[in-house]
Amino acid sequence: MTRGTSPGEPDATVALLAGRGAVVTGASRGIGLAIARSLAQAGARVAMLARGADALAQRSAELGGAALPVPCDVADAAAVGRAMQVITLAFGGAPDILVNNAGIFHPRPLGDITPDDFAASIAVNLNAAFYLVHAALAPMRARGRGHIVTIGSVADRVAYAGNGSYSPGKFGARALHDVVREELRGTGVRATLVSPGPTNTDIWGDLAGTGRFPPREAMLDAGAVADAVLYAVTRADAVNVDELRLSAS
Ligand SMILES: NC(=O)c1ccc[n+]([C@@H]2O[C@H](COP(=O)([O-])OP(=O)(O)OC[C@H]3O[C@@H](n4cnc5c(N)ncnc54)[C@H](OP(=O)(O)O)[C@@H]3O)[C@@H](O)[C@H]2O)c1
Repeated sequence: MTRGTSPGEPDATVALLAGRGAVVTGASRGIGLAIARSLAQAGARVAMLARGADALAQRSAELGGAALPVPCDVADAAAVGRAMQVITLAFGGAPDILVNNAGIFHPRPLGDITPDDFAASIAVNLNAAFYLVHAALAPMRARGRGHIVTIGSVADRVAYAGNGSYSPGKFGARALHDVVREELRGTGVRATLVSPGPTNTDIWGDLAGTGRFPPREAMLDAGAVADAVLYAVTRADAVNVDELRLSAS
C-alpha cells in the first residue's frame, strides 16, 4: 500500500514499512516502546533492545510476531555487537532502520555528580549511539538504503542547571547525528534527529512537577515522539528530514 494522496484513501502509513527491519533501543517502555509499536503497526519487524529481559519479553509479546526482544546493555560495545549479529540473523539481513533512543536522566548539581555517574550517563546517552551506528553503517551503505534516527532532547542544544551529566551526552548525540548526516549525504542512507521537550514517561520518576520541571499533564505524550519518527522514516526516499524539535503546545 502506498501513501494516500487524496481524502478517503486508506491510512497513509499502513504497511509503508512492510519488509523493513528496525532496531529500537530502550524499547521496553516510554518513548522507545511507543516508537517500536508505531513501526510495527506500519509493517516493520522490530528488534526491541533494553536491559530488563522480563519487561522486554512482555512488551514485545504485546506487539505480536513483528517484535523481536533482544536483551542488551547498549552501553557495552561487545554486547551491542552480539545483539546486532542476532538481529541480522533473525531478519535475514542487516536492519533498515536504527532508532537510538535508550537514555538515562539523573539531574543533579555538578558538585553532586561523581565520575562514575558522569561516565554512566555518557555511556548510554552518547557512546551507545556510536556503537549502534558503527555496527549498522556498513551494511546500510552497501545496500544504498537505510535510516538512522537519533532521539535527542531539548537538552541537546540548551544547557540547564542540573544537567551536567545529561546535556554533555545529548549535545554529543546531536553532534554524532550531524556527522552521520554529512558522511551519508548522497548515499541513500538517511539520518534524522528527533528532539523532544519534556515527555510523560518513567524517566521523570518523582521529579515531574517539582522545581523547574513541568507537571506530567503539561508534557508531551510518548506517542507524539513516535509520530515524529514515523513521519521521518516514511518520507519519499529522496527526502531527508534532518531534524524535528517537539514541544508541548
Ligand atoms: N521523557 C522525556 O521527557 C524525554 C525528553 C527528551 C528526550 N528524552 C529521551 O528519550 C529517550 C527515551 O526516554 P524515556 O523518557 O522513554 O525513558 P524511560 O521511560 O526511562 O525508558 C528508557 C528506556 O531505555 C532503556 N535503557 C536504559 N539504559 C539502557 C541501557 N544501558 N541499555 C539498554 N537499554 C537501556 C530502558 O530499559 P532498561 O532500564 O530495562 O534497560 C527503557 O527501555 C532517552 O534518550 C531520553 O533522554 C526523553
